[in-house]
Amino acid sequence: MANVVQDPRSHPQAFLCDFSKPNPYYKFRKQDVAFVYGSHWKQRYFVKRGNQYYALPVQWDIVHHVWLKYHPGLGEDWWVPYYPDDPMKRPTGPLCDGCHSVNYNITTETVTEWNVGCERCHGPGSEHIRVPWKQGSIVNPARLDFVRANDVCIQCHSQLRPLSNPIHGIYYDWAVGYQPGDRLSDYVRLEDHQLGVNNFFYWPDGSAHKNREQGNDFVTSVMYVHGVTCFSCHDPHGSENDNLLIKPGSAMCLECHGPRSPNGPRGETLEAHTHHPPGSPGSDCIACHMPQIATEIGTFRVHSHTFRFISPALTMKYGIPNPCTSCHKNKSNEWALEQLGKWQNESPWRFER
Ligand code: HEC
Ligand code: HEC
Ligand code: HEC
Ligand code: HEC
Ligand code: HEC
Ligand code: HEC
Ligand code: HEC
Repeated sequence: MANVVQDPRSHPQAFLCDFSKPNPYYKFRKQDVAFVYGSHWKQRYFVKRGNQYYALPVQWDIVHHVWLKYHPGLGEDWWVPYYPDDPMKRPTGPLCDGCHSVNYNITTETVTEWNVGCERCHGPGSEHIRVPWKQGSIVNPARLDFVRANDVCIQCHSQLRPLSNPIHGIYYDWAVGYQPGDRLSDYVRLEDHQLGVNNFFYWPDGSAHKNREQGNDFVTSVMYVHGVTCFSCHDPHGSENDNLLIKPGSAMCLECHGPRSPNGPRGETLEAHTHHPPGSPGSDCIACHMPQIATEIGTFRVHSHTFRFISPALTMKYGIPNPCTSCHKNKSNEWALEQLGKWQNESPWRFER
């Protein structure tokens, strides 16, 4: 997990934006910026006033190289009604820093370290440094039960609200008080959803509509209740593969899946399951089971983590994008549904809804 938060005075190269591109939203100078925030998909710019930082109302889309507005409005982040409209009255302490630092202290408004340090996943380290040989002096997520293990990642990778809000009159958007090894549900609830409703957070079937909802998605998956964790597929300490995957792309899936695996998919060969030639884009597990439907920034979307196959019938009824016509862009949903009807090894009933 790279350095999202960087001080541009010590890291001048941290600015990924192009100041010569048109920016009708908010003009600022490099020297005004106390922190640049983001390195993969989007970058935001913070100024400091007193103890607190504030995000400027503009962001850089790293993928498309354009400036975009940044100002959460009503119907977007849940906390908007609890804060003034003025960006300089929306401090990052309660709204952001709890997930982008180590030990954000809500009383002193200070951190011990910026970005995702060891302690965010392993708990406080001082006891471990004092008696490193002592079992349990540090949390190893791999030794936790599946709920607590996944909670280590879900504390940051989800859309949630603390149960204790407001705390001393302030609304927080992160899991205040949670430590690895705890049950996260004692501190927060995941953003609620009603089936059929399409909103900022969810598609009508409850799939993530927005980025940073891997946790909201994954807890609905059959894999989750079978003990698979985020770190079954991702190595949080770093990897040569995109997105910290332990094995690249679909090779990750084939670690546990295959035609003769009790985990499925059923059928004699993978081709019988995918109905596409081996090695072609349509045979890629991720393309059909993790379509890019969660909005990160602008038109760029990240992968669904429910692992559910979304039928074209759901697109017709509810407008949720399905993997078939997201790739076969010139074909209709009716066409895709008709093709699926010919797949004799799958149940047609399940494609109806
Ligand atoms: C984003 C979460 C995360 C961060 C940050 C993180 N770790 Fe880990 N660490 C894990 C998980 C999950 C495991 C267990 C799964 C695994 O081995 O990959 C683990 C396992 C380990 C292990 C192996 C323990 C064993 O018994 O095999 C060591 C050692 C370790 N981490 C050290 C560190 C150090 C040092 C840092 C900081 C530089 C760090 N980790 C940062 C999540 C994290
Ligand atoms: C303290 C908050 C926090 C925790 C805990 C955390 N993450 Fe992250 N994670 C982040 C942030 C912030 C980024 C964005 C990194 C960037 O843009 O460089 C990120 C990025 C990622 C990425 C993708 C981008 C990349 O860096 O290549 C993966 C995959 C990921 N995290 C997996 C995990 C897993 C698995 C765990 C649990 C073991 C975990 N994270 C725990 C905050 C967290
Ligand atoms: C509940 C935890 C949480 C909160 C609160 C949070 N973030 Fe993040 N943030 C993450 C995680 C996890 C990621 C990486 C995964 C993703 O974006 O889907 C991320 C990614 C980012 C990125 C993009 C990183 C990149 O490399 O492109 C930026 C910029 C960012 N956050 C800024 C903010 C700002 C500004 C706020 C407050 C308004 C905020 N975050 C609040 C957890 C959080
Ligand atoms: C079964 C494997 C698997 C599990 C479990 C899993 N992921 Fe992923 N994740 C992937 C794959 C595959 C990608 C897409 C990688 C690619 O195509 O580059 C991905 C992408 C991501 C990304 C980058 C944004 C995106 O979607 O492109 C983040 C962040 C992430 N996962 C976090 C998590 C977290 C947090 C959990 C647990 C709540 C989790 N993942 C569980 C396989 C998994
Ligand atoms: C660590 C092992 C592991 C990995 C890696 C893994 N899976 Fe799974 N998967 C499982 C298990 C276990 C089940 C439950 C099987 C059963 O029903 O008994 C499962 C079930 C599934 C299901 C059926 C879910 C349902 O709703 O019926 C799908 C689809 C799936 N996995 C897709 C994937 C994809 C796509 C990848 C790669 C991104 C992947 N899996 C990687 C272990 C894994
Ligand atoms: C062209 C699209 C497509 C591709 C590619 C694809 N699947 Fe599927 N998969 C489906 C459909 C459709 C279903 C049935 C969904 C249902 O009935 O709800 C399914 C169901 C599954 C199931 C659950 C049922 C069973 O047969 O056990 C698993 C597990 C699974 N797929 C794993 C994978 C893996 C692993 C890969 C990569 C090798 C993969 N799939 C590639 C479309 C695809
Ligand atoms: C990631 C891209 C991708 C996805 C997802 C995908 N396909 Fe394909 N599909 C292709 C490509 C590429 C071909 C041409 C393959 C070849 O012959 O090499 C193809 C071929 C086909 C064909 C035969 C040729 C034709 O156009 O009549 C059918 C039918 C088909 N796909 C249906 C589906 C259905 C149904 C789904 C959803 C379950 C789906 N595809 C998902 C890329 C995709």
